[in-house]
Amino acid sequence: MSPASAAGGPVGVAVVGCGTISTAYLRNMTSFPDLRVLFCADLDIERAKAQAAAFDVPGAGTVAEALAQPEVEIVVNLTVPAAHVAVSSAAIAAGKSIWVEKPLALDSASAGELLAAAATAGVRIGCAPDTVLGAGLQTARRLIDSRVIGPPQTALALLQGPGPESWHPDPEFLFQPGAGPLFDMGPYYLTALATVFGPATRVAAVGRSAKPTRVIGSGPRAGTEFRVEVPTHVSALVEYEGGQSATIVLSFDSPLSRHGFVEISGTAATLAMPDPNRFDGDIQIHDLGARDWTAVPASGPADGRGLGVLDLARGLRSGAAHRASGEIALHVLEILEAIDRSAVTGTFEPVLTSFTRPAALPEDWDPHAGTLADLREPA
Ligand SMILES: NC(=O)c1ccc[n+]([C@@H]2O[C@H](COP(=O)([O-])OP(=O)(O)OC[C@H]3O[C@@H](n4cnc5c(N)ncnc54)[C@H](O)[C@@H]3O)[C@@H](O)[C@H]2O)c1
Repeated sequence: MSPASAAGGPVGVAVVGCGTISTAYLRNMTSFPDLRVLFCADLDIERAKAQAAAFDVPGAGTVAEALAQPEVEIVVNLTVPAAHVAVSSAAIAAGKSIWVEKPLALDSASAGELLAAAATAGVRIGCAPDTVLGAGLQTARRLIDSRVIGPPQTALALLQGPGPESWHPDPEFLFQPGAGPLFDMGPYYLTALATVFGPATRVAAVGRSAKPTRVIGSGPRAGTEFRVEVPTHVSALVEYEGGQSATIVLSFDSPLSRHGFVEISGTAATLAMPDPNRFDGDIQIHDLGARDWTAVPASGPADGRGLGVLDLARGLRSGAAHRASGEIALHVLEILEAIDRSAVTGTFEPVLTSFTRPAALPEDWDPHAGTLADLREPA
């Protein structure tokens, strides 16, 4: 146990990677009494200093300086995906627990090595998406656990639209390996399903691209044609260890836009989850024999990004398992890779990793309560 954790009290955090998504994290994390954001780091020092100034964070500088802070117990890695493993490995080597934005790594082999390194070092890994900890998905999770739909049997999940090149000024990366609808949006849907059904055992899929090239639709490079290098329509079938199954369509090839569609069917009712890419949203339940849906409002915190860091921090103090774990992130990454492979091989592909299904958050879980304050040593 580090000297900081032995002291109890709020958990010290450093943010590494002060780009677009860091603002949402910093806004929320600086409002949670159980976290103390102590340092902002980036390759671009000016960017780190600007974010530190904007959110009253006391320190700013290089990644090495962030890792040298003795009071920092969690490094929140918000760098670009290609830097996730290098930054996370350095943080683990410095004895820090880490929270990583998605994806945990570019491939499941590197993600597995990170988990092994963390286990050896005795530190924890948490990973996005933490939308599964938001009020919407947690209310759905509690309803499913209380068996309002009976035992869950099957799921239908759908994200479709014409693709992001019409509005994104630099969309090429979204059509290259590591992205596409499967790897860019799949984590939200498959993580939500994993928290309901537990580990998957095998997948089958077909994938194709409607167009070999696309044209940028907005910004200074509008009109530029670029190559599509990944399937832009993926239909997948996932089987879970209990025998349940999910049918999933992830597509940038549809003139019709529809997203956030996740229906879980049990023996007694079908439950429509809120959008798994959001922290809020109501739940709809369609009972067997009913004529229509019944809405159930979401209850619980919908603060947004950073809830997973807070749950990790509280877990460090209490010893309880944190919910948005590296194990789930690795498992979901392996599912995505297996779907990608199956679309090429045309056969079922096994999923070998596993995870322990996390407990649902209590309904009264309050990010703004200072639950660790009474452990703090007198000044
Ligand atoms: N932008 C979003 O809406 C969004 C949504 C969900 C998830 N994410 C995820 O968040 C992460 C960051 O995305 P973003 O949009 O903020 O990217 P960004 O490019 O805006 O910011 C990334 C920052 O990381 C810094 N950086 C890169 N390599 C580094 C290194 N080795 N050491 C220190 N700093 C380094 C860059 O200088 C930059 O400031 C990605 O993993 C992305 O998938 C982003």
